[in-house]
Amino acid sequence: MKTSVCIIGGGPSGLMLSQLLHLKGIDTVVLERQSREYVLRRIRAGVLEHGFAELMREAQCGERMDREGEIHDGFIIAHNGKQRRVDLHKYSHGSSVVVYGQTELTRDLYEARDRMNGIVIHHAEDVQLHDLLSANPHVTYRIGDEARRIDCDYIIGADGFHGVSRKSIPQTVLKEYEKVYPFGWLGVLSRTKPVSPELVYAKHERGFALCSLRSQVLSRYYIQVPLSDNIEDWPDDKFWDELKRRLPEDIAARLITGPSIEKSIAPLRSYVAEPMRYGSLFLAGDAAHIVPPTGARGLNSAASDIYYLYHALLAHYQNNDNTGLDTYSEKALARVWKAQRFSWWMTTMLHTFPESNFYDQKLQQTDLEYLFSSEMAQGALAENYVGLPF
Ligand code: FAD
Ligand code: DHB
Repeated sequence: MKTSVCIIGGGPSGLMLSQLLHLKGIDTVVLERQSREYVLRRIRAGVLEHGFAELMREAQCGERMDREGEIHDGFIIAHNGKQRRVDLHKYSHGSSVVVYGQTELTRDLYEARDRMNGIVIHHAEDVQLHDLLSANPHVTYRIGDEARRIDCDYIIGADGFHGVSRKSIPQTVLKEYEKVYPFGWLGVLSRTKPVSPELVYAKHERGFALCSLRSQVLSRYYIQVPLSDNIEDWPDDKFWDELKRRLPEDIAARLITGPSIEKSIAPLRSYVAEPMRYGSLFLAGDAAHIVPPTGARGLNSAASDIYYLYHALLAHYQNNDNTGLDTYSEKALARVWKAQRFSWWMTTMLHTFPESNFYDQKLQQTDLEYLFSSEMAQGALAENYVGLPF
C-alpha cells in the first residue's frame, strides 16, 4: 500500500491529524495496535483547553463536544480548611476550558474517520519503521500471520509513551529528560452526580485529591496513592472513605457515592524526548512527552503538536514549503517545555511528598498563600491552565 502520511497510533493525536489532513485532500493511513473498543475503554483526560476545542471544530468533530461538553470558567483549590476559586475567565482575558472526556472525543474522531472512509487499520502487530533517513521511508506490520508494508512520504509517531516510534530513533540521537514521582493517581469513574459544579483540587496531608466530572450524571475522582498500591488494595468503600477524608468537610458531606464503573492507577511521570523529528519521522503527543496529570496538560500538549504538524504538512503539500517541517521539533518543544514546567509546579504545590521536610512543606504553603494574594500569580496559573497560544 502507498500513502502520503503513515500515522502510527489511533489515539486522539493520530486520529485528529488524520482527520485534519483528509479534509485538505492529503491521504493518510492510521495503524493501531489495539481494537477500537479497547482504545475507547481507556478513561483518561477530561479537561480540554480552548485551542484543542477549536481544533476539534476545524476537524469537523466539534458538534457533540459543543452540545454535551461543559464550559468551565474556574476551579477550586482546597487546602488548610480554605476553598479558593481560580477565576479562569477573569484572569485569562475571557478564556475557559471545556470538560469533555477523551473517550468521547476519540469516539467522535473515529466516527468522523468512518464517515469519510478514512483508513484506520486495527490489530496492527509488530509495527516497524524503516529507512527513516531516506526519501522512501516505509512501515511494515502484521495482521495475524500476514506481513504487510506501507510506503509513504512521512511517518507520524503518535503511538503514545510505550509506542515503537520513539524507539526507532537511534539512542545516539535521542536525548531524554525524565522525572518520576514517588506516587500515582487512583482514578474512579462513577455514575453519580458530581460533588461540585467546578473541579476541586484538594491538597491534604494524607495526599492530593481531585473531584472532576464528565457530565452532570458522571463523576471522575482521583486520589494520590503510593506506587506500591494495586487496584485490589482499593475496594470502592475504602476509596470513598479516603476521598472524603481529604476533602473539606462541607464538600465531603455532599459527596454522593456509588459503584465504580472504572478504576485504574496511573503513575506520575514527566518525560521529554528531543528532537521530535528524525528524518521523515515526526513524533507527536505522548510518544514524545508526558506530564503528571495535575495541570490537565497531556492531551492539550498533544493537540499543539498536531496543530504544528498539520500546518507544516499542509505547507509542504500545498506550497512545497518545508519551513514548518524543518522547524517543527524546535517549535513544538518550546511549548512542550512550558507545559512541563506548569505541570511540575502544580504537582509540586499540591501533592504530599514522602521525603519532604518541614522546610519543603512551608514552601508549599507559601506557594499557595502567594498564589491567592497575587492577581499576577493567578493570571499566570490561568493563562497556563486555559492553554498558552499555539
Ligand atoms: P495515546 O492516547 O496513548 O494513544 C496512542 C495510541 O497508539 C494508542 O491507541 C495505542 O494503543 C497505540 N499504539 C501504541 N503502540 C503502538 C504500536 N507499536 N503500534 C501501533 N499502535 C500503537 N490530558 C489533558 O490534556 N487533560 C486532562 O485532564 C488529562 N487527564 C489525564 C488523566 C489521567 C489519569 C491520565 C493517565 C492522563 C491524562 N491526560 C490528560 C493525558 C492524556 O490522556 C494523554 O496525553 C493523551 O492520551 C495523549 O494522546 P496520544 O494520542 O498522544 O497517545
Ligand atoms: C481530569 C484529569 C486531570 O489531570 C485534571 O487536572 C483535571 C481533570 C479528569 O480526568 O477529569
